[in-house]
Amino acid sequence: MSYNLLKGKKGIIFGALDEKSIAWKVALRAKEEGAEFVLTNAPMAMRMGEIKKLAEQCNAEVIPADATSVEDLENLFTKAQEILGGKIDFVLHSIGMSPNIRKGRTYGDLNYEWFLKTLDISALSFHKVMHVAEKQDALNEWGSIVALSYIAAQRVFPDYTDMSQAKAVLESIARNYGYRLGMQKKVRVNTISQSPTKTTAGTGVGGFDAFYEYADKMSPLGNASAQECADYCITLFSDLTKMVTMQNLMHDGGFSSMGISEGIVEMISK
Ligand SMILES: NC(=O)c1ccc[n+]([C@@H]2O[C@H](COP(=O)([O-])OP(=O)(O)OC[C@H]3O[C@@H](n4cnc5c(N)ncnc54)[C@H](O)[C@@H]3O)[C@@H](O)[C@H]2O)c1
Repeated sequence: MSYNLLKGKKGIIFGALDEKSIAWKVALRAKEEGAEFVLTNAPMAMRMGEIKKLAEQCNAEVIPADATSVEDLENLFTKAQEILGGKIDFVLHSIGMSPNIRKGRTYGDLNYEWFLKTLDISALSFHKVMHVAEKQDALNEWGSIVALSYIAAQRVFPDYTDMSQAKAVLESIARNYGYRLGMQKKVRVNTISQSPTKTTAGTGVGGFDAFYEYADKMSPLGNASAQECADYCITLFSDLTKMVTMQNLMHDGGFSSMGISEGIVEMISK
């Protein structure tokens, strides 16, 4: 159902890889709510071709950008403003990748070059996006910027290894840049801490099925789906949440407030 929440708003959506991606669902919902936007992803991801399908569905242009490259981001923001005919109202940063997780390295055996790559791709890129937007004065007043995080920023999930640090940095960047952009342009910056979700990035984490089931059993509402996450992103891009900024917002069916649930007690007592 559409509420026209984003009518007249212009955006940039990072991170739609395939139909399972959270960013993919956000793009479809944003379109439904009347937004105009450009889609972007790393050139590598682009070659897989799926994003073109989404672009057609959303009548959106695709601009390749490696989110770790300031040069690529400069080109992206310049072109996005040309294509959309004005400044940007919303940005979704839906990017995460750890070479250490990909290669199955444990926390005690991390490759430090890869650790730095994890931080660059999954956290510093968020700073770079806002840095370029600020330098180009590319954002409209009362704009909204959202990045996606995970509770491993605060609690220990052993298989999440160096991504835990990346998410902690990401959430800190949201607070610090949120202050800056708030003072300058009334732009808000938040992270959404999402339940485990069955996507390419999600299922790449070791033991994913177990902690997906665990979180689902712990949460009174169950795990939040990618579709529900997209709905939440739309509210944060809309004018209905203008005073929410510098927050890490839990979107997890209640998981983060739980100690133990009856479902887990039953499972362990069996
Ligand atoms: N799936 C989960 O369980 C879960 C839970 C909480 C948070 N998140 C977060 O949600 C976000 C989106 O992930 P997803 O689950 O939709 O998976 P996904 O694999 O569909 O999306 C990850 C995206 O990051 C992009 N990316 C990687 N390196 C890049 C680079 N250098 N430049 C630009 N883009 C790059 C990939 O191409 C891909 O589109 C990530 O930040 C992830 O950590 C996911």
